[in-house]
Amino acid sequence: MKRDTFTGRVGFVLAAAGSAVGLGNIWRFPYLAAQYGGGIFLLVYLVLVLTVGIWLMSAEIAMGRKTGLSAVGAFRTLNSKYSFIGYLAALVPILVLPYYSVIGGWVTKYFFAFVSGGAAASATNGFFDSFTASTFEPLAWFLVFLGLTAIAVFFGVEKGIEKVSRVLMPVLVILAVFIAGFVVLQKGALEGVLYYLTPDFSRFSVKTVLAAMGQMFYSMSVAMGIMITYGSYMKPDVSIATSAKQIALFDTCIAFVSGLMIVPAVFLFSGGSEQSLNQGPGLMFETLPKVFQNMNGGAAIGTVFFLLVLFAALTSSISLMETVVSIFQDQMKLSRIRASLLTLVISIMLGIPSSIGFGLWKDVRVLGLQFLDFFDFISNSVIMPIVALLTALFIGYVIKPQTLLDEIERTSPLKSKGWFSLTIRYFAPVCILIVLITSLLSTFGLFTI
Ligand code: PHE
Repeated sequence: MKRDTFTGRVGFVLAAAGSAVGLGNIWRFPYLAAQYGGGIFLLVYLVLVLTVGIWLMSAEIAMGRKTGLSAVGAFRTLNSKYSFIGYLAALVPILVLPYYSVIGGWVTKYFFAFVSGGAAASATNGFFDSFTASTFEPLAWFLVFLGLTAIAVFFGVEKGIEKVSRVLMPVLVILAVFIAGFVVLQKGALEGVLYYLTPDFSRFSVKTVLAAMGQMFYSMSVAMGIMITYGSYMKPDVSIATSAKQIALFDTCIAFVSGLMIVPAVFLFSGGSEQSLNQGPGLMFETLPKVFQNMNGGAAIGTVFFLLVLFAALTSSISLMETVVSIFQDQMKLSRIRASLLTLVISIMLGIPSSIGFGLWKDVRVLGLQFLDFFDFISNSVIMPIVALLTALFIGYVIKPQTLLDEIERTSPLKSKGWFSLTIRYFAPVCILIVLITSLLSTFGLFTI
């Protein structure tokens, strides 16, 4: 059967960017940047995107286009002994989709709160905590978000949603730039802007690198087989390297602006205390309503903003669910309906503990983490680095970089060829290995950094 293809580079870049740009950029990046020292996190993140990220993305796309298959099949075709890397990659979206939908549910809740005149209430201290600590409300919103995702996947309306989001994405960018501009110009924001932009090298640690690396994989949708699948739909005359650079640029800019919108606002509204910078997953939800509260027409702007974030989150969750469904379809020979139902059941089962982990189960900890943080940690800081490491070793030493370079160079010769091989063979594996081992040891208390 001939595979459907994207219409051209623009089509491919937009579809892949729709998957890449999501809650990772707007919700996750700012709270990690706040937590891990602002400027230093930003710097490490940028270096990682430019070195490991872009090449890994190019390599995954090339693997997909060369084989015409998604993760498991692509590894198997290139060398049948290594299909386990594909399986490991496939585990990531299965673990991410449930808790992604919990956060998506929070966004849905905030959108409806703003629509129904609750903008001021949502800016009060304790609003977020009491919402997430209640049992049923967050669960209900989680199910609404997951349901919306499932409907799109069931009825195949994702094409429609993608069309809409192509128009809405640029609007989101413009709005985020506007909000960031507003925040930066407030009196008292300077300290926060400096915290976000100036690297403080005394705060550099292996943990910063691990957090930045996990975020880079997550945000760029690499190290989980998704870009392999996207590559399998890409036409041969579209440039892989140029596409990867454009997706990375777009993705990074949105993360950067989101940080600029949220991190200085923490200084504005809570003086940048350590506790407020360390809020974690709640940061965006605590901070942005306060920003809107201080803006003329803030309630309306906030409503539009949360709607746009909801769309960005949906395009990403749809691509996550699509991936999981197609894995179940291919590997278990299930019909599309059954595979979708199985995905739903698993997501609900894993999503429930993540949701009630902020309330009813707040004393239940795994490795000292709440459920949501635990799933996030296992997928982003453990499995994804391992998949990225194995993928780099596989390309570097089993199939050899040249195999993929042939695919990448089908459109035009790659000037930075040497970098590609160097990164894939040495830089990426060494960096990932050091970071992964040190930080795992420290997590289990065997080592202090
Ligand atoms: N990259 C998406 C984000 O930044 C998350 C995601 C990961 C989506 C993997 C799809 C697949 O939000």
